[in-house]
Amino acid sequence: MSTYWINGGKCLRGEVEIQGSKNASLPILAGSILSGKKSVIENCPIIRDTIVMKDLLEELGCKVAIEENCFTIDSSQCDKEEIPSELMKEMRSSIILMGALLARHKRLVLTYPGGCEIGARPIDLHLNGLRKLGAEITESHGFIVCRTDRLTGCEIDLDFPSVGATENIMLAAVLAEGRTIIRNAAREPEIVELQNYLNSMGAKISGASSNLIKIDGVEHLQETKYRVHGDRIVAGTYLCAAAITGGEITIKGVIPEYIRSTLHKLQEMNCVVKVIGEDSVYLKAPQRLRAVNTIKTMPFPGFPTDMQSQIVAALSVADGTSIVIENIFENRYKYISELTKMGAKITIEGKTAIVKGTKKLLGATVEAKDLRGGAALVLAGLVAEGYTTVEGVTYIERGYENFVENLRNLGASIEIRDERL
Ligand code: EPZ
Repeated sequence: MSTYWINGGKCLRGEVEIQGSKNASLPILAGSILSGKKSVIENCPIIRDTIVMKDLLEELGCKVAIEENCFTIDSSQCDKEEIPSELMKEMRSSIILMGALLARHKRLVLTYPGGCEIGARPIDLHLNGLRKLGAEITESHGFIVCRTDRLTGCEIDLDFPSVGATENIMLAAVLAEGRTIIRNAAREPEIVELQNYLNSMGAKISGASSNLIKIDGVEHLQETKYRVHGDRIVAGTYLCAAAITGGEITIKGVIPEYIRSTLHKLQEMNCVVKVIGEDSVYLKAPQRLRAVNTIKTMPFPGFPTDMQSQIVAALSVADGTSIVIENIFENRYKYISELTKMGAKITIEGKTAIVKGTKKLLGATVEAKDLRGGAALVLAGLVAEGYTTVEGVTYIERGYENFVENLRNLGASIEIRDERL
């Protein structure tokens, strides 16, 4: 198992080009099934999750070629209707194949998805939405069997603005008969990207970024080329890396509007933040970060749950006490016990983390237990006194492309070590 070995205390300085968005790429790759033709997806990150998605698409009969960050998918021979359970378990977002496969084949069998240990992550909103579109879905012995004669447009009200459920319903509705309306839809930028990708194939979707999305079903879709935007969470992670180490950074290739709430909080923490043009942000950290009153994770455009662990790591060395409330997932504080080993003073009361900033953290051996929690441990190691070993880095490699290389280029003393078992 690989580990990251970090010698802390270095200020991060420099520029970093932000990778393509993992959470935009995955539903777009799944959507390539719908056309039965070629899709060229540019600026796709080469990370474990996109490689697992490639494997899933190939298992289903698609041809997938990868050249640098460009995925070319030919879904003309996509004739399989069963998703292998071992691949389903590898990644939560494999569930996003449901809507596209149902629209293409009218039948599919899959198992419950795996995913990060950040909560129960039920799929009731996905299944209810697909049932309203006309799918018969039965669940038995851990398998989900879906079939339909025809998907028919309808009005769907989501109990919660679920990102995945919004995406699955959009993907299923593109080829359905008539109009589908999704109310209380997720407003995340990844929904906008999926709409733009599908419309580039000839779909008729409008309303993404609002909480009401309209999809008018079409008969066929065309081949297309689409470029994925920069990953807003990876961008926020590098900004926090500069903030926690008292450094200075310019991030390029991300839409500032997509990280507005993170930028506001970093400014509250006494960082100087400047938006440069349409796709760059400059940040200069203070000598010591300032605590913030409260951070509540919320659906977009609120503060993103995927940035919760990274901002808590930064607040753990800030001057003062901060309150962080995790409203989206019920088990997203697993990394805090690891931060405590490094001297962080954080207490958890239900959904609330009380972060009492300390002057310094001390290097230790810590273990990543999910993707963003693992990134938070790396940030803590960058500022800690002495050496930190981060275990379980396969979680981190699910979402961060060239993470160690980029951090080294910014001045961090970090390396990947293969610890033979
Ligand atoms: C997406 O997960 C992202 N993953 C997550 O990012 C992100 O944290 C999340 O959206 C929220 O922004 C991908 O896009 C691949 P949800 P998703 O459905 O779609 C509950 C990362 O680190 N819910 O919006 O699974 C659910 O339990 C990952 O990149 C139901 O109750 O998130 C959660 O409490 C982690 N029933 C809340 O909604 C359902 O049917 C939000 O989940 C679906 C969801």
